[in-house]
Amino acid sequence: MPHTLHDPRISILARNIEVDDLASQAITDVVNARADARLGLATGSTPIGVYDRLAAAWRDGKVSFSQVHTFNLDEYCGLPSTHPDSFAFYMWHHLFGRTDFDPGKINLIAGDAADPTAEARRYGERFARQKCDLQLLGIGENGHIGFNEPGSPAEGRTRVVRLEPSTRAANQKTLRVLKETPESAITIGIADILQAKSIIVIAKGPAKAEAVRKAIKDRPNSTCPASFLRYHPDVHWMLDADAAGLLGAQA
Ligand code: PGA
Repeated sequence: MPHTLHDPRISILARNIEVDDLASQAITDVVNARADARLGLATGSTPIGVYDRLAAAWRDGKVSFSQVHTFNLDEYCGLPSTHPDSFAFYMWHHLFGRTDFDPGKINLIAGDAADPTAEARRYGERFARQKCDLQLLGIGENGHIGFNEPGSPAEGRTRVVRLEPSTRAANQKTLRVLKETPESAITIGIADILQAKSIIVIAKGPAKAEAVRKAIKDRPNSTCPASFLRYHPDVHWMLDADAAGLLGAQA
């Protein structure tokens, strides 16, 4: 069946902290509208400021996350949730441990599962039973969303993937303990991501500008997996001026 292409909403913010403000406000609004909202969450350096603001909003009594269900996008293979370089650890450090999220409603991928393929199936089935009210995404310099690297199909489901050398190099900077980024991961697929009711993509800095341009301007194609977001009717790109630098006057 041919897909309909949609134009996303694009917000270009002068300062990158305004990206954090806008994204955290959007998440807070969703949770205040539906206390048991389903949130799809991302890791990486870009969302840290968003999570800081969500923690502050909770401290200030502006929102409660106690009934919210969360689903993370991806996880490195081989790392237990207690490992400082796991995305599970990241989530507890930056968000869950600073707020009132209910551990029973937090869904994370078991990176250290003995059978990663079976874990991908388990998590994918659980994810597919929920429809996220809001999916938060970053974008890789190579255009990936989650760990759907270039070449990933729009129909892709949750699975074990090998990471590109460029992704491993980019993520090297954020490692706390490991010397090298793991070679493989489990990621939610693009088809899973597109099930969300609404999607926010945040990007900051000039290194993201080309991927952002391709995702928004090119016809959807697997060399830039984020371009498949054009198939979704409710995508909001929240960009700082540098990340939006190649979009031209139209944006
Ligand atoms: P970053 O990663 O936020 O660390 O740049 C984004 C991504 O790879 O999705």
